[in-house]
Amino acid sequence: MKTSSFLPLSAWVLSAWLLAGCAGRRSEPLRGSLDTSDPRIAHGQTVYMVECEKCHPGGDAGLGPSLNNKPLPGFLVRFQARHGLGAMPAFGKDELPSADLEDVAAYLKALRGNG
Ligand code: HEC
Repeated sequence: MKTSSFLPLSAWVLSAWLLAGCAGRRSEPLRGSLDTSDPRIAHGQTVYMVECEKCHPGGDAGLGPSLNNKPLPGFLVRFQARHGLGAMPAFGKDELPSADLEDVAAYLKALRGNG
């Protein structure tokens, strides 16, 4: 019969396509294809790697929640970094100058747009 052989094949192709899609998305490092020609984003990435990466690896969840899966306006990123609500430590201006924090927010925005 035609349909009995067609259905399993299409189901296999579909699941293989879905699996490949999911695996590809999960293993693809977001920052790999990030456009870092913008010096602010490049600098924000550098600062992020030093200050934020350990708890928000690659913008994903680690010790802290994922940052690249939701709209996080710049003021919210700045507020959270300065005040450290919840379990996150606060970053003072001596530790994280405002210009650096601005660039981290720009980096996070680019990371989201990239994902
Ligand atoms: C020591 C671990 C740690 C470090 C370092 C850290 N975070 Fe966090 N972050 C957390 C935790 C834990 C939370 C969740 C806070 C809560 O609500 O309890 C959080 C939450 C956040 C949120 C809010 C996310 C949301 O879903 O609302 C933002 C934005 C954020 N962090 C940004 C940053 C930035 C930017 C840096 C670097 C300057 C940074 N974090 C460094 C642990 C960390």
